[in-house]
Amino acid sequence: MIRFHEVGLSYGDGADGGGETGLVLRNISFAVPSGGFRWLLGPSGAGKTSLLRLLYLAARPSRGEAVILGHPVHAAGRRDLVELRRRIGVVFQDFRLLAHLSVFDNVALPLRLAGRPEGQIRADVAEMLRWVGLAGRMAALPPTLSGGEQQRVAIARAVINRPDLILADEPTGNLDEAQAERLMQLLAELNRLGTSIIVATHQTALLARHPAPALRLDRGRLVGDG
Ligand SMILES: Nc1ncnc2c1ncn2[C@@H]1O[C@H](COP(=O)(O)OP(=O)(O)O)[C@@H](O)[C@H]1O
Ligand SMILES: [Mg+2]
Repeated sequence: MIRFHEVGLSYGDGADGGGETGLVLRNISFAVPSGGFRWLLGPSGAGKTSLLRLLYLAARPSRGEAVILGHPVHAAGRRDLVELRRRIGVVFQDFRLLAHLSVFDNVALPLRLAGRPEGQIRADVAEMLRWVGLAGRMAALPPTLSGGEQQRVAIARAVINRPDLILADEPTGNLDEAQAERLMQLLAELNRLGTSIIVATHQTALLARHPAPALRLDRGRLVGDG
């Protein structure tokens, strides 16, 4: 369901698209089956966030072929990509919550964009916030929450639409050990229900407790897959 074939990514601004030297990802080939779980590992600067940006369609491959949820994104039109993006939930490293909207409205946003009826939205969001342990903070504004609470709002928003693929960029970076463990339980439960999940991290303690295949990046190259 995800298949990369010799994908390269350049942030280059030159007429040559950055050339060989501008590539932050090179020759990336891997596959993740439907319903798979993968760690995405590598030191800071290795290209984890860049690879996730390709996966959630914020960047297009500069080279190679990328098939995401069955769609060849290197060849897809803009409208295909908009629909595909709705099937992907992203937990950003810096949360990206809307500060002027309540916790409830932040989590409701993907459902409202999808045109769901307001009655159903209310029930779904309330249930999701219970699931992440934030039922009591529905009316709060994000800046008044702790880092861990904001992270859980970001997770609730990423999964409220029941995406087929969830991507998380260092999601436990702001969490203490108990919160990180709870987050991993939530992701494991979604994975059991059939959602494909890719989690970027450099926290090896998590891996020890949650063994799963890993994609390993080093300086823009995939150095391990398994
Ligand atoms: N928007 C950007 N423009 C230019 N270079 C970038 C941009 N984002 C990341 N990079 C570069 O790409 C490389 C990989 O970065 P990144 O994907 O953020 O790695 P990681 O998430 O593993 O720390 C780094 O050398 C970084 O400086
Ligand atoms: Mg990163």
